[in-house]
Amino acid sequence: MHRKLLIPGPTEVSQDILLEQTRPMIGHRSKDFSEFYGGLTAKLAKFFELPSEYMPTTTTSSGTLWFDIVGRSIVQKKALCCVNGAFSKRFAEIVRACGKAADWIEVEWGKVVKPDAIAEKLETGEYDTLTMCHNESSTGARSPVTEVGKMVRRDYPDVIFAVDSVSSMAGDRTLPHEMNVDVLFASTQKCFALPPGLAVAMVNERALERAKTIPNRGGYTDLVEIFDFEQKHQTPYTPNVSLLYALDKRLDLLIAETYPRVYQRHKDMAELTQRWARKHFEMFPEAGYESITVSCIKNTLGKSVKDLNQKLAERGLEISNGYGALAEKTFRIGHMGEWTVAGIKEALDAIDEIWGL
Ligand SMILES: Cc1ncc(COP(=O)(O)O)c(C=O)c1O
Repeated sequence: MHRKLLIPGPTEVSQDILLEQTRPMIGHRSKDFSEFYGGLTAKLAKFFELPSEYMPTTTTSSGTLWFDIVGRSIVQKKALCCVNGAFSKRFAEIVRACGKAADWIEVEWGKVVKPDAIAEKLETGEYDTLTMCHNESSTGARSPVTEVGKMVRRDYPDVIFAVDSVSSMAGDRTLPHEMNVDVLFASTQKCFALPPGLAVAMVNERALERAKTIPNRGGYTDLVEIFDFEQKHQTPYTPNVSLLYALDKRLDLLIAETYPRVYQRHKDMAELTQRWARKHFEMFPEAGYESITVSCIKNTLGKSVKDLNQKLAERGLEISNGYGALAEKTFRIGHMGEWTVAGIKEALDAIDEIWGL
């Protein structure tokens, strides 16, 4: 039985989007491909209202490749990494695994790293790159990227700001120029509501200029090569053409819905879920920093999340347990992509019935 996914990715993908992937194959070095791919990146630029100094791209990878791209192609000597959950920690670890130095500012899970704490560290002049996760899917905390970006651009203009927007891009408001982010990336299985296997990124000229100065950028992780090929509307290596077809169709739908409406729909879903959560439980993230794409809820009633999911499965629904050590202590409801307020309401009603709330 099909279980509709209310987990923080992968999320639901409608049949018509899935079917886009059955279009006939074309060669990725053909004129047809370049025309198609150039059109797709133009749609990305249109939807995200990108000014000319920002360039969109896609990689045939999950989002994590971009941790490596930042580690290999952006960090010169030392990065400052904001760590407030599983994914921001992985970002920091991968920067180190790429052979670059990285210091962490670590806060308790559920909290966010604030601009003052970052400024204090950047003031030392030791760091050339700052990393942050916009939407920590493990804790449902939404970091103050816009405030941080404003401070970094104003006070530390040589620092490149790289942000994981994996579970927020195309749901939350994530315009890189508005947030003063130099490298922003996401995976397609989250708010883009596509199958996994592609990443979407937006990179500005400052970041690309930095990359040109970095030796040993690797192969798949070479940002300069990625954008050399973008000039020809191609990718350096064979892309997942089928998924690009699906992304192209998704972008048509997103552009038709418009960015403000997509954002509003996600805010409305989050508001409904948070209201429900506060009525029965408590929100896990620090007040004022709740994600609008995934709600992480403290299981204050000590209910069995595992049992709930078994019963939800009978109704064709699936939510997410807490991440790692937070399992059963928290549970997560993903409200992203194709989901609507009406669908979320039905799911919350189902939980009410099962748990007798
Ligand atoms: C915030 C965040 N960052 C990174 C990742 C890793 O993305 P991927 O699995 O597409 O590599 C995830 C996956 O859930 C995520 O939620």
